[in-house]
Amino acid sequence: MSAPATEPPKTESGRFKAGLEDVVAGTSSICLVDGIEGKLLYRGYDIVDLAENSTFAEVAYLLWYGRLPSKSEFEVFQKEFRGSIELPEQTSMILRLFPRAATPMEVLRTAISSLGHYDPDSGNTSQEACLRKANRLTARIGSIISAHERLRQGLEPIQPIAGQSIAFNFLYTLTGNKPQAILEKIFDICLILHADHELNASTFAARVTAATMSDMYSSVTSAVGALKGPLHGGANEQVMKMLLEIGDVSKAEAWVINALKNKVKIPGFGHRVYKTEDPRATVLRKYAEQLGKHVGNTKWYDISRIVEKTMFDYNEREAKKIYPNVDFYSASVYHCMGIPTVLFTLIFAMSRITGWTAHILEQWANNRLIRPRAEYTGPLGLRYASIETR
Ligand code: ACO
Repeated sequence: MSAPATEPPKTESGRFKAGLEDVVAGTSSICLVDGIEGKLLYRGYDIVDLAENSTFAEVAYLLWYGRLPSKSEFEVFQKEFRGSIELPEQTSMILRLFPRAATPMEVLRTAISSLGHYDPDSGNTSQEACLRKANRLTARIGSIISAHERLRQGLEPIQPIAGQSIAFNFLYTLTGNKPQAILEKIFDICLILHADHELNASTFAARVTAATMSDMYSSVTSAVGALKGPLHGGANEQVMKMLLEIGDVSKAEAWVINALKNKVKIPGFGHRVYKTEDPRATVLRKYAEQLGKHVGNTKWYDISRIVEKTMFDYNEREAKKIYPNVDFYSASVYHCMGIPTVLFTLIFAMSRITGWTAHILEQWANNRLIRPRAEYTGPLGLRYASIETR
């Protein structure tokens, strides 16, 4: 037998970057993130333009089909989209079985996985069937969230109203009240803004699973698991917790300074790609203010502004580039809508599912297994010793 190697095998490049920072791991025509200019495009359209002029349903079409629909295409699509909102009876039943202690995000992960069992296209891998699955998944995820939240509160789930938007039905089935037009509109804009973001952690997880030629439900379940963490989608919950803990405008500056002194990261700030303000935060800031005024409570917006100003001064002083990200102002927007904090990350999933499924379809259109290398740093040449002699 030959002697064990003494040198670890080198990776092709001979180097690695922690967290794969700046590593280009594939090509995609879905989304462009320009971290220097602070721009985000979906299929070539600026999200500021889409947020002002489009709808979430139209953006879903854009992400999946690669172009905006014609009027007649959109009519057919929207009818199918809105018509898929009701949950399969079995999934509604499963929602009643989760332990009380299960967090909504954990429930979402399992419930999404369960949807695969009741999808008539489950085993059909054709492009048309996969588009139908993406459509159903996107339409139903809000129904899972609102139904489970009501059960958690000891209330019965509410049936969605046929023909209404995803935003309308989410707010309606969550609260039992038909939302005012302004709330529906701003919630729809939030869904547009979160829909895709290139190879973020959850989308990458979805693509890795899809690239093994696993199914769409498994790939989306992987993505939900990755989104859950506080360094990714979980940050919007942390932002609201921070705002609640600060509690008053007069305490905001000192709170942030103290956190920074103790090396605590401020939730809703910083981004792996943006070295300037996240363009989604710019749009959301405007709506956080508008909504605060509309509901007669700008306290959370006002605290957010002080937190932001304190971070701005810190950047200046320390020559840092830590700007608000998408999670920062979405927190006060959702709070003003009366949405419980524990659901914030689930709303992120409700929107990002369009991006996940678009990326899964793109992966399958030109698939190759995603299998990177690791640079080995462990010992070499060890000899097995029997347990009696160790
Ligand atoms: N508050 C204070 N300092 C920060 C923050 C923050 N929110 N974010 C980064 N920094 C500092 C770090 O302390 C570090 O400083 P140092 O160089 O002096 O050590 C430097 O900026 C770089 O930070 P990293 O954590 O190495 O940056 P990375 O690219 O790995 O992480 C991340 C990006 C995870 C988003 C980070 O900024 C963070 O934890 N932010 C708070 C959580 C958050 O808002 N996540 C949501 C991201 S957006 C999304 O997923 C939708």
